Amino acid sequence: MFEILEKRELAPNIKLIKISAPHIAEKVQPGQFVILMADEKGERIPLTVADYDREKGTITIVFQEVGKTTKMLGAFNEGDEIPAVVGPLGNPAEIERFGRVVCVGVGVFAAPMTLLARSFKEKGNYVIGVNIARRADLIIFEEEFRAVCDEFYVSTDDGSRGYEGIEFMKEILERGVDRVVVCGLVPIQKRICELTRPYGVKTMVHLTPIMVDGTGMCGACRVMVGGETKFTCVDGPEFDGHQVDFDELERRKRMYLVHEKVAHMMHKRLGTGV
Ligand SMILES: Cc1cc2nc3c(=O)[nH]c(=O)nc-3n(C[C@H](O)[C@H](O)[C@H](O)COP(=O)(O)OP(=O)(O)OC[C@H]3O[C@@H](n4cnc5c(N)ncnc54)[C@H](O)[C@@H]3O)c2cc1C
Ligand code: FES
Repeated sequence: MFEILEKRELAPNIKLIKISAPHIAEKVQPGQFVILMADEKGERIPLTVADYDREKGTITIVFQEVGKTTKMLGAFNEGDEIPAVVGPLGNPAEIERFGRVVCVGVGVFAAPMTLLARSFKEKGNYVIGVNIARRADLIIFEEEFRAVCDEFYVSTDDGSRGYEGIEFMKEILERGVDRVVVCGLVPIQKRICELTRPYGVKTMVHLTPIMVDGTGMCGACRVMVGGETKFTCVDGPEFDGHQVDFDELERRKRMYLVHEKVAHMMHKRLGTGV
């Protein structure tokens, strides 16, 4: 059992929990994820490790309540125990000294991106942080993210805080950039890759397809990268975004939409869960 030591609400439906998980905290690297179960009979969901403390044996995850399992997780309180947390899974992000690195954290993924940005900074890179959210009230981790960057920008889809949209990033790219890294959902990752392609800047994306086992056995998380089939859980989750077939990925992500909506409705109606 994995005790929740701290729980905070960061924005509407976005929560942070710190979990006691010494064997994961001992080994985890930036960019890796865990798979957890909010109840013993429920589904397994992947969540990125947003921070860890090896001495205290804790990991932190930040999640958005989008459906049944994330809502069940959001209902846990400090002192409660999560029945199963497996990890660390996936490969660590490639963190080398590249030069000028743009770290883009979108929505809830600003939290794990803060860990990546800090790691790039520790390697001696000049780090440019970009924190993107749909609206001003959905911006999370702004202070933590800003603190580990040399330059920092905020943007919202509706312009309610910072820049409106992502076009402003062209100005950053024109000044010269050696690498871009993006954590976020598929549509925005695709748009950022289209933006960076003409500049020839290597753009790494952290993909979030549907996962089941997380160990390369089921094939649920397969993606096409450079014309080859890859399993995100064992070959990724970080890939060269200019090689990813985002349209196929988006189609596969929507495969269970009807089942997910039914599960969510039943959960709300019956109040099943913790
Ligand atoms: C490697 C990886 C890291 C992730 N890290 C984070 C994170 O740090 N924070 C965060 O909020 N979310 C993260 N996600 C997404 C998160 O796993 C989904 O939001 C969650 O599984 C939704 O489950 P649900 O039952 O609440 O919602 P559902 O109603 O079941 O699904 C809502 C949407 O979530 C996605 N989803 C559903 N089931 C899965 C699954 N088993 N695997 C992946 N995606 C699924 C689908 O796009 C679906 O349409 C990550 C996904 C992956 C693959
Ligand atoms: S989740 Fe099953 S192969 Fe990746």
